[in-house]
Amino acid sequence: QATFSFEKARVRKDSSEKKLITDALNTNRFLKRLEPHQIQDMVECMYERTFQQGSYVIRQGKAGNHIVVLKEHGLEVFQQNKLLSSIPVWTAFGELAILYKCTRAASVKAITSVKVWAVDRAVFQNIMRVTAQTRQEQY
Ligand code: CMP
Repeated sequence: QATFSFEKARVRKDSSEKKLITDALNTNRFLKRLEPHQIQDMVECMYERTFQQGSYVIRQGKAGNHIVVLKEHGLEVFQQNKLLSSIPVWTAFGELAILYKCTRAASVKAITSVKVWAVDRAVFQNIMRVTAQTRQEQY
């Protein structure tokens, strides 16, 4: 039986914001393979975080604790301190370490103060687990 309650992790947001987050998740190469209701649950559970200029959203080689959607310009991707790219607004990232249970493949650093939407790994894993359990019950 599924014991996880999405109600607790749900964060209020307006429908236009939800649409932007949904589209960001659905254009990510890996996350777009999830089922629509899983994407929807992720959107409901995302919460806002601010990263100050110069701080790291993600550090290469560390464990992954959240999947992130960028709301405004100001994040850059680095590998071994070499600049690879800047992340476009309304891009989902930080999915690799969570989906594949590996360490972070790159660092992501704030070049200005930025706001993001984030979902914690534990919540994401619960969303996946609840679906698996439902499937099993239907089998
Ligand atoms: P993850 O490895 O969890 O954490 C770093 C994230 O940076 C990674 O997931 C991707 O979402 C993102 N990223 C953007 N560009 C690259 C790149 N060239 N190589 C690896 N990760 C990248």
